Amino acid sequence: MALEHRPDHVPVVARNLDYASFEVRSLTPHIGAEIRGLDLAAPLSDQQDADLRRAFLDWMVLVFPDQTLDAAQHKALAGRFGPLHIHPQLRGSDMPHPEVLPVVTNEHSPFTAGDGWHSDVTCDEIPPLGSMLYLRETPDCGGGDTLFADMYAAYELLSEPMKVFLSGLTAIHDGTAPFTEQQEILGLPTPEGGHPRAEHPIVVRHPDTGRKLLYVNSGFTTRIVGLSAAESRSVLDMLFRHIESNPKLWCRVRWTPKTLTFWDNRCTQHHAIWDYFPQTRIGGRVSILGESRPMA
Ligand code: SIN
Repeated sequence: MALEHRPDHVPVVARNLDYASFEVRSLTPHIGAEIRGLDLAAPLSDQQDADLRRAFLDWMVLVFPDQTLDAAQHKALAGRFGPLHIHPQLRGSDMPHPEVLPVVTNEHSPFTAGDGWHSDVTCDEIPPLGSMLYLRETPDCGGGDTLFADMYAAYELLSEPMKVFLSGLTAIHDGTAPFTEQQEILGLPTPEGGHPRAEHPIVVRHPDTGRKLLYVNSGFTTRIVGLSAAESRSVLDMLFRHIESNPKLWCRVRWTPKTLTFWDNRCTQHHAIWDYFPQTRIGGRVSILGESRPMA
């Protein structure tokens, strides 16, 4: 019997739990899956590689507990999916692994990276296709979870008139606000040439699945092109609220030490929750360069 479509529910998309080379437990019916039975430090077989790519598109957020990875292995794993991205704040740095963005929060931290809904670095013309965050140390007291939102579902749950209104519009994604604030706190210089800034469609199609999704995020999206400043602010605030106030769009990743999470940055947003002060959370993030600009 065909299921009735209810406009206030995330549409049922048949999700696969059956992969030949590892076990999968879904975190929600539509986003997030925990993978067991795969050693990410070891060479992957063709079957494992194919299953991993399929699971990535199926679930958008893959969680791999109990992995032992050093920086070189972390980079090698991410490198299977494409060339590695260097975060704008680490470009030109003399760190031994500038592709590994330190994600470190402790009692001295003035802020924690990602503490607000965002996709990674959408101020770049071609934002990263995905990121792999590996946490070595998590707070003793619990907490430090990361929320992820499904932007296909965020699009689907808009009304038809709103979908029509947004299609064809573009928005500015600007690194100035988030990066200037962090830079001032950390006493870092402004990068040569200023912060990245890009214009992307508001409704894009995922380059691999072809599905439509909502592509604005409160971390970077500052202005809808062609609307007045007041109209742009109101529409963006409405869209940000749609994401931030709708738990049925989300999954929640609960980290344990030595967990790696791999997310599809093209169709998700995330929010790192800093609820563990003064405890410590330590890891590193490697992002993979996208292959093309986000396209409608
Ligand atoms: C990030 O925004 O990439 C950090 C996410 C996290 O620390 O959970």
